[in-house]
Amino acid sequence: MRSGMTSTPTRTLPSGDEMPLVGFGTWDIDESAVGDAVRTALDAGYTHVDTAEGYKNEAGIGPAIAEHDREDLFLTSKVLPSNLHYESVLEACEASLDRLGTSYLDLFLIHWPNPTISLRETLDAMARLHETGKVRNVGVSNFTRYQLMFARRVSDVPIAVNQVEFHPWLYQADLLAYCEENDIVLTAAAPLARTRVLDDDTIASIAAEYDRSPAQVVLRWQVQKGVVTIPKSTTPAHIRANLDVFDWELDPADVERIDAIERSERIYMIDLADETYGIPR
Ligand SMILES: NC(=O)c1ccc[n+]([C@@H]2O[C@H](COP(=O)([O-])OP(=O)(O)OC[C@H]3O[C@@H](n4cnc5c(N)ncnc54)[C@H](OP(=O)(O)O)[C@@H]3O)[C@@H](O)[C@H]2O)c1
Repeated sequence: MRSGMTSTPTRTLPSGDEMPLVGFGTWDIDESAVGDAVRTALDAGYTHVDTAEGYKNEAGIGPAIAEHDREDLFLTSKVLPSNLHYESVLEACEASLDRLGTSYLDLFLIHWPNPTISLRETLDAMARLHETGKVRNVGVSNFTRYQLMFARRVSDVPIAVNQVEFHPWLYQADLLAYCEENDIVLTAAAPLARTRVLDDDTIASIAAEYDRSPAQVVLRWQVQKGVVTIPKSTTPAHIRANLDVFDWELDPADVERIDAIERSERIYMIDLADETYGIPR
């Protein structure tokens, strides 16, 4: 998405493109249902949609985004760890573009690192896609600070984004600081910890104090830190409420109360037995 195209606040990527701070996550919404969910989100004012070849739903998203001006949307997809050889990255991107019915992605991410395939080779392919205009920004997902450091060193294009699990039960403050120091936007995957943080005592009490839902408090905490967040929902009222996090703010003391929640729980892990995540066993 080009600059100045949205009313949702954005982060500016190294390319100058604007990435909306709230996007619509689509993991686990199947191809037949995802069109309606994305339509509800776009009608509610979302301009940012997050998908992946691994979600097997891109073909359902294509018709919904075709109803909007493509330049008004920020579209992210991801390449599976099994497809990180040079030619496979190019082919995976082409296939995602075909399914989504678009000529370019705003952001293309390496979905998970794959230690069996050269990162330099993968990022060379990403640079090629960037050069040809098929991918406007390049990023990674589920990379540690150490992996990010190497990615930055071998990439010919800026690593614009790292999408990682980030919520009040997994506040990755060090990784966020590293991203901020290096002009990388951190995107919160599973920002609501798949609902598990919504019953947290601190979140529930802050929600009551602000007369907001626990989900809104969590999403506001993320955007207030400059973290892009991509909640997933198939409930229209939730889809709309999750975007309503910009005309109010958390007091810094309440941000600190959430920062101080003493839990460290990952809710998703790469499943090496699941071939859709593709690292050969
Ligand atoms: N890069 C990666 O490896 C990776 C990994 C995980 C996720 N992601 C991305 O991040 C997105 C979000 O993560 P996620 O789908 O795992 O989980 P999530 O967004 O943390 O949680 C989704 C769950 O929260 C519920 N929910 C949403 N809004 C709510 C609200 N306002 N009040 C109460 N419940 C609410 C949804 O139910 P309802 O449908 O009933 O609202 C759903 O059960 C994914 O869809 C995907 O795009 C990326």
